[in-house]
Amino acid sequence: EKGGYDWFMLKEIDEQPHALADTLRGRLTDSGEIMLDEVRLTDQDLRDVDKIFIVACGTSFNTGLVAKYAIEHWTRIPCEVELASEFRYRDPVLDRSTLVIVISQSGETMDTIMALRHAKGQKARVLAICNTNGSTIPRESDAVLYTRGGPEVAVASTKAFLTQLAACYLVGLHLAQVRGVKYADEVGAVLAELQATPDKVARLLSEMTPVRQLARDLSAAPTVLFIGRHVGYPVALEGALKLKELAYIHAEGFAAGELKHGPIALIDEGTPVICVVPSPRGRSILRDKIVSNIQEVRARGARTIVIAEEGDLDVAQFADDLIYVPATPTLLAPLMTAVPMQVLAAEIAATRGHDVDQPRNLAKSVTVE
Ligand code: F6R
Repeated sequence: EKGGYDWFMLKEIDEQPHALADTLRGRLTDSGEIMLDEVRLTDQDLRDVDKIFIVACGTSFNTGLVAKYAIEHWTRIPCEVELASEFRYRDPVLDRSTLVIVISQSGETMDTIMALRHAKGQKARVLAICNTNGSTIPRESDAVLYTRGGPEVAVASTKAFLTQLAACYLVGLHLAQVRGVKYADEVGAVLAELQATPDKVARLLSEMTPVRQLARDLSAAPTVLFIGRHVGYPVALEGALKLKELAYIHAEGFAAGELKHGPIALIDEGTPVICVVPSPRGRSILRDKIVSNIQEVRARGARTIVIAEEGDLDVAQFADDLIYVPATPTLLAPLMTAVPMQVLAAEIAATRGHDVDQPRNLAKSVTVE
């Protein structure tokens, strides 16, 4: 049932183009409208929303961190992201006009269930983004958008992450359309770009041989750091989470601008630093800032592994290793940049002889608080 793969995780990584297409299928009309009728929230409900909380754990939390950038930008509704295990213990300000988006692959994560119950108790509306039909989280929520990623067997989330991102983009764009937006043109363009992402991910996956080679090189590293800015920051966190949980290597993700406030002291001769570089076509100020962060770590001996957009030739001079991903608008870029990190973590774990699908001390769904 692994279909010729050594591990379910590798199979699930390769299923991502298909899974992503399934998330989008039927939800975008040719005229550029987003159809989320299944999400039983009326347009009026959506117009009444004045604050959004995204609540989740682990990889699903990292999805939420990306979604915040997109949702706030497109809708201009304030959006906060919080770990489910923290949310309900701190008396968050919630009322009828708060939309709480809970994200969960399994739909059975106890921390997330308890956060959702807390939100409902405070009269907030709860929208679940979930992969598992009929599980507890969608059953208890006011509305649900299923990611349709298909079963995820490996403990480490991969296709769940990409499909959750796509679902969050749909929610953000739908909210923007329903409420009428400042960035109407941009919303139309992003929709077309979103439709193109499954094919781009498929192409990216066909170019992973150098990443496998890199995995062998990095397999003995005692520590690996990940840096990013803007939506590249949550991708850095996700890359570090994957490496920790699968390879049992110390890994940390940082917002690149924070390095100089402490973490840069960790850089030693040869320390691998995986750097997520945004598109040079987008807000180039962001790209220039991270390029200077890359130079800073390199000057202190780091081995820089740069993930950048195809066509960004200039970045090569700062990279000890360079991984190109297909061009996409900045806010959608995590659908690309996360992929080599998944492959890297799985391959490093395999090289080190670990069980890639069942890492030690972990379970697929965490049904205790
Ligand atoms: C990491 C991973 C976990 C889950 C987390 C939430 O690869 O799989 O961090 O993302 O336990 O699980 P769900 O999404 O099922 O609520």
